[in-house]
Amino acid sequence: MKLCYLLGYPVEHSMSALMHNASFQSLNLPYRYELKSIPPSGLVPFIENELRLPEVKGANVTIPHKQEVIKALDEIDETSSVIGAVNTIVNKRGRLLGYNTDITGVHRALRESFGSLHDIKVAILGAGGASKAVSYLFAKKASVISIFNRTLKKAESLAVTLTSLPECKAEIQALPLKYEALENAVKEADILVNTTSVGMFPKSNETLVCKTLLHSELFVFDLVYNPPQTRLMREAAEMGARVIGGTPMLVYQGAEAFKLWTGRDPPLELMFRTLKESLGAG
Ligand code: ATR
Repeated sequence: MKLCYLLGYPVEHSMSALMHNASFQSLNLPYRYELKSIPPSGLVPFIENELRLPEVKGANVTIPHKQEVIKALDEIDETSSVIGAVNTIVNKRGRLLGYNTDITGVHRALRESFGSLHDIKVAILGAGGASKAVSYLFAKKASVISIFNRTLKKAESLAVTLTSLPECKAEIQALPLKYEALENAVKEADILVNTTSVGMFPKSNETLVCKTLLHSELFVFDLVYNPPQTRLMREAAEMGARVIGGTPMLVYQGAEAFKLWTGRDPPLELMFRTLKESLGAG
């Protein structure tokens, strides 16, 4: 039996095991995906002692380990290195390679539901790990990116990092998560992305953006996948905006990891159906 892990702290809420184990079974692959709740002090020892074993094909990495994990790996790909975060590890004959499939997950989800990202204006809520992947993708294509964060310093430092990239095409500004600042940027924006955990189960009634700021020219992308429809998504739809939730990104980042571990094309429809059923929306 080959093993893939999810390394996080905590990991109990994760849907990834359901999605991957259903996929392994449907393709008759002798693989198992296991959740590993590892406190920060245990991360490097776990990687050294377990991840290089021949029966381990790799791992996904989630909060809070996406940045810290890098120092324990042998090599990371270019995008992981630019944004400083890895969410997928592949054990290649004892060598540990790091990738960031969050970026491809976001890109594919947006390409399918929104279209071209060239020259658009984007408002991003949050400046943590997920925001880094999202804003890096937009930096290469959009014309204006406004990054809003409760802790302004983090948004400022992300804006500086992105602006200094040679491939950055966008004008990037860091703003406080305040009504007045949001009002201007959201009014002008083509896409509003929520990368924070606000609105996530069990605090499903929370939102960072006042409903009256949302409008019919806006496309709202909420990375939260539980509940499948957040308050932000519901209110945006009520104001005439197009909306998507976090499920497509979750599936597509998982699908790319699946392909890296197994070399096989993942059963996407099954992945979507498994999530939908377990989130109670199917
Ligand atoms: P992730 O990897 O999922 O992005 P993270 O790196 O911990 O997780 O980032 C969480 C993001 O959600 C941050 O931007 C955080 O804001 P701070 O930088 O000010 O902490 C944001 N966030 C979380 N809870 C929030 C809340 N209740 N209100 C506003 N922002 C919140």
